[in-house]
Amino acid sequence: MPNAYISGTGYFVPDDVVTNDELAKRFNIDTNDEWIRKRTGIEERRFAPDGMGTAFMGARAAEQAIEAAGLTTKDIDMIVLGTLSPECTFPGTGVFVQRELGFADVNNFVPCLDIRNQCSGFLYGLGTAASMVRGGGYKNVLLIGAECHSHALDLSTRGRTVASLFGDGAGAVIVSATDEDRGVRRWTLGADGRFAETLWQRVWDIQRFPFIPQNEEGQGLVEPELMWAQMDGRQVFRHAVEKMITSLMTVCWQEKIEIKDVDLFLFHQANLRINEYIQKQLNIPDDKVFNNIMRYGNTTAGTIPILMAEAEREGILKPGMKVGMAAFGSGFTWGAALMDW
Ligand code: ACO
Repeated sequence: MPNAYISGTGYFVPDDVVTNDELAKRFNIDTNDEWIRKRTGIEERRFAPDGMGTAFMGARAAEQAIEAAGLTTKDIDMIVLGTLSPECTFPGTGVFVQRELGFADVNNFVPCLDIRNQCSGFLYGLGTAASMVRGGGYKNVLLIGAECHSHALDLSTRGRTVASLFGDGAGAVIVSATDEDRGVRRWTLGADGRFAETLWQRVWDIQRFPFIPQNEEGQGLVEPELMWAQMDGRQVFRHAVEKMITSLMTVCWQEKIEIKDVDLFLFHQANLRINEYIQKQLNIPDDKVFNNIMRYGNTTAGTIPILMAEAEREGILKPGMKVGMAAFGSGFTWGAALMDW
């Protein structure tokens, strides 16, 4: 059975930097830098311009990852894409990325799979891609986490709790087959549907007929509570620290190592306070944790692959390192993974 390792990384963030104070100034939101920075660690985030969406950002990150792996689109035999901000309801965003990258020609109908697991989408995708590669059916899986949050945020004082957390961006990796003794060692995934409504963006109600109420002209009417994401932040915080800690400990136990044996932790970037709490509970020194939430906010499925790509480019992630990852988000869903880089 081959091992599955990451042969290339890439990331893309839009140019437009929106600082905490700019959220107040540009969008007239009653908020300020001190409130956001103190509770979340976020200093700024990137917003995509009108006309740029999830597939575009995912494709740019993918191009980098493919090049970094020394491959071309012809070598990719599967696309797996995690997002909670898809281009549209259906089809999935993977096919838009495939088309954007020019995969879709008669010789190369690469299959595309969308993963709908929000903040843990990358780790669900990693488990899926690694299984495919280890199973022998695929040699190079392009795995993308991409989000265009800003176009679907309630950028007003009413929506400030959620709107101040999220940013746009994409990360991508190539999960490749190797006979070398390295790569993805373990992963664990979990979900608790009892909390499905604790962090969600409904938009419509499929149990209703019609699923979106219409006015007399047949235009759909979406109420603000359905249109914008709703979140019980304190519940999310509490469950995130618990599940990220226990799933990290689970993968370490399964791999017969201790937390102190891990060289670098790449945690989901939801809130710096969540990550600091985990770090403290598990007694992890500062130099073993890489965070970038200060600069990008929460890019959901994009956080871990963006971190990975930046860590590699900055020389923080080095060959031979043992890397621990953990994420938690809407669903609730969560996961952790261990990898030898
Ligand atoms: N600026 C100023 N004031 C604000 C803002 C803001 N951006 N947002 C909320 N407030 C106000 C609220 O209106 C409220 O005012 P009130 O007391 O007059 O009603 C007050 O601040 C306190 O609001 P809370 O929601 O109770 O604030 P809390 O201390 O819980 O912090 C936060 C909110 C930062 C979201 C926190 O709950 C949290 O980080 N939770 C984790 C959630 C998370 O990370 N979600 C990310 C997505 S999920 C994931 O990726 C894991």
